[in-house]
Amino acid sequence: MPLASPSRKIHAVSGQYPCSFGAVIGLAMACACGDNTQPPGRSPALSVLTDLDPAADVVEVMLVATPAQVEYLDGKTAQVWAFRDGADPGSAGSVPGPMLEAKLGDRVVVHFRNELPEETTIHWHGLRVPNAADGTPVAQMPIPPGGTYDYEMTLVDEGLFWYHPHMHGDVQIERGLYAPILVHGATRPVVAADRVFVLDDVKLDASGELSTYTDTLDLMLGRQGNVVLVNGVPDAHVTAAAGSIERWRFVNAANGRYFNLDLDGRPLRVIGTDGGPVNEPYDVQQLVVAPGERYDLLVTLPSAPGGEVVLRTVHYDRGHDIPDPGPIDLVTVSLGATVSSGDPMAPRGVIEAIPIAGDTTRRRFVLREDDSNPQSPVFLINDEVYPDVTIVPSAVGAIEIWEIENDSEMDHPFHLHGMSFQVVGSDGSIATPLAWKDTVNVPRSTTVSFAVRMGDPGRWMFHCHILEHAERGMMGELAVSP
Ligand code: C2O
Ligand code: CU
Ligand code: CU
Repeated sequence: MPLASPSRKIHAVSGQYPCSFGAVIGLAMACACGDNTQPPGRSPALSVLTDLDPAADVVEVMLVATPAQVEYLDGKTAQVWAFRDGADPGSAGSVPGPMLEAKLGDRVVVHFRNELPEETTIHWHGLRVPNAADGTPVAQMPIPPGGTYDYEMTLVDEGLFWYHPHMHGDVQIERGLYAPILVHGATRPVVAADRVFVLDDVKLDASGELSTYTDTLDLMLGRQGNVVLVNGVPDAHVTAAAGSIERWRFVNAANGRYFNLDLDGRPLRVIGTDGGPVNEPYDVQQLVVAPGERYDLLVTLPSAPGGEVVLRTVHYDRGHDIPDPGPIDLVTVSLGATVSSGDPMAPRGVIEAIPIAGDTTRRRFVLREDDSNPQSPVFLINDEVYPDVTIVPSAVGAIEIWEIENDSEMDHPFHLHGMSFQVVGSDGSIATPLAWKDTVNVPRSTTVSFAVRMGDPGRWMFHCHILEHAERGMMGELAVSP
């Protein structure tokens, strides 16, 4: 079982939630909550990057991308590409990579080293960073094998984000290069556990290795695997106190799979989205998490001890007549002794609606797919295929409405770098509850609009987060001038 080394220094973990962080970082054996018997299945443990800077508001880490071996299936090794903690010379690469954990306002320095056999860059998905730290090939030179790059940023938003390469994403991320970024806010809800779940799927052959075969369906839909992973394990089990309230945060790191979360039909309370807390929590029965998106939830577990509750993904129709595979188990929760929770007092976002009016600048982006050659489908934005695109010009502080029209037979999750946006409702005003997004699903044959205030100057990418689509044309570039 890939537990984090107990001696690893864990920064920013307050003693306020001794149980919760045990669950998150893999010290579940030492956790005092519930009963201590390890349930069957595997622990969805995450390790945390070592903070080498003793200052309270600086997080300095060493990150390495390297070939590695993991066991997706028990007893079967898979050759992957993975991140490891460069501060620990003996660390091995893991999928997901070690979590970058920090708090709002921290200055973050990442000393990155590329030990892969090909060039790469690292992008901090959803973080509002200076353009030089955005980690795309338009913002920096690619980092060659053996090369290094220092990323420096100050954290201006709390929430769950993630990091991944921004070159050949369909291959490099699929091979295992992705990890969560957890930015704590000033206040945290009072919960029995605070867990991060990174969702993915992999296509494994009978020997447990990643299948290198990419068929035309993979190209069309984004590669969908045959094994679904939560924090890198296919059969995640956790223990929890019956009747307690837990905080669960999700990021979808899959190339093409949509997750539709269902906790035995229990209500899921959404307290945050991509860019942090919403200003008014709301309940849903099921929750679609498209590739690249994040959600922050409170869940209330059943009050009867001794049973189980299962988080599953259920079918979501994203187009092209993908058949319903039936529900797939993600996390089995074994319920220990009952602990009743009071009001968790979830933090509320302080979000002001971006001021839009009839004369606000509007831009229209039309998403299309061209599968006239099924061996090599092409994906377009405004009939252009990246990198042969017209650069979108704007300026710092400009407010714009982007209308994303999906004129294709499948959904596309649209992602913008460098700044978060607010979705505009069908009545033309900002949708409520107010929420920050950087990735939004655009269902087929619909138009989704959002309002954005342009942030830092530089060259920012936008693209579909189905990685096969992004790498086959569905990507564009925004140039924000000072
Ligand atoms: Cu998560 Cu441009 O990427
Ligand atoms: Cu991004
Ligand atoms: Cu797409």
